[in-house]
Amino acid sequence: MEDKIRVLISEEDVTKRINEIAEQISKDYEGEEVLLVCVLKGSVFFTTALASRITVPVTLDFMQVSSYGNETVSSGRVKILKDLDDSIRDKNVIVVEDIIDSGRTLSHLMSFLSVREPKSLKLCALLDKPSRREVPVDVDYIGMQIPDLFVVGYGLDYAQKYRNLPYIGVIEQ
Ligand code: IMP
Ligand code: MG
Repeated sequence: MEDKIRVLISEEDVTKRINEIAEQISKDYEGEEVLLVCVLKGSVFFTTALASRITVPVTLDFMQVSSYGNETVSSGRVKILKDLDDSIRDKNVIVVEDIIDSGRTLSHLMSFLSVREPKSLKLCALLDKPSRREVPVDVDYIGMQIPDLFVVGYGLDYAQKYRNLPYIGVIEQ
C-alpha cells in the first residue's frame, strides 16, 4: 500500500533556503577552499544542491555512520561504516547532515573528526528538531527548524524509501 505524504516544506522553499545557506558559506569562506563531508545516505541530495551553489572552490568526501541502537550500553556512539577517503588535516571542513534529532550521531562524528586537526570544522544541517535534543551540538548552518515529526524526502528516508522526493513531507497515519 502506498503511504500518503503531506508536504511540510515545499520544493521551492527548500531550494530557496539552500541557496541562502550556499550564499552565506560562499561569503564566510571567501578566498578559501571548503571540503564538504557528505554523511551518507541522507545528506546526498542536500550536499549536491549546496555544492552546486557555493562559489568558492569545493571538494567532496563521503562518510557513512550508523547508530549502535538503543539497546546497547554504547548507545549514542556511532559505528563508522565508511571513513573519508582523504586526510582533512589543515582543511576547511563542513560536515553536511540531513537532520539533527537527538544530536548523538553528530556529537560523536564531530569529535571523531576534530582530532584529525582540520583547519576549521563546521556543521551544516538541512533540518533541525531542537525539541528532541539529548546531547548538545553546535550547528553553524541550519536550513530549517521543524517540530517533532518524522519527515521524509530530500534525502530523508522511511525504511529507505522516499529519499528522492523533491520536498520535505510527513507520512500521514
Ligand atoms: P540523531 O543522532 O538522533 O541526531 O539522529 C540523526 C539521524 O537520524 C539522521 O541522520 C537521520 O538519519 C535519522 N533521523 C532523525 N530524524 C529523522 C526523520 O524525521 N526522518 C528521517 N530520518 C531521521
Ligand atoms: Mg537515516
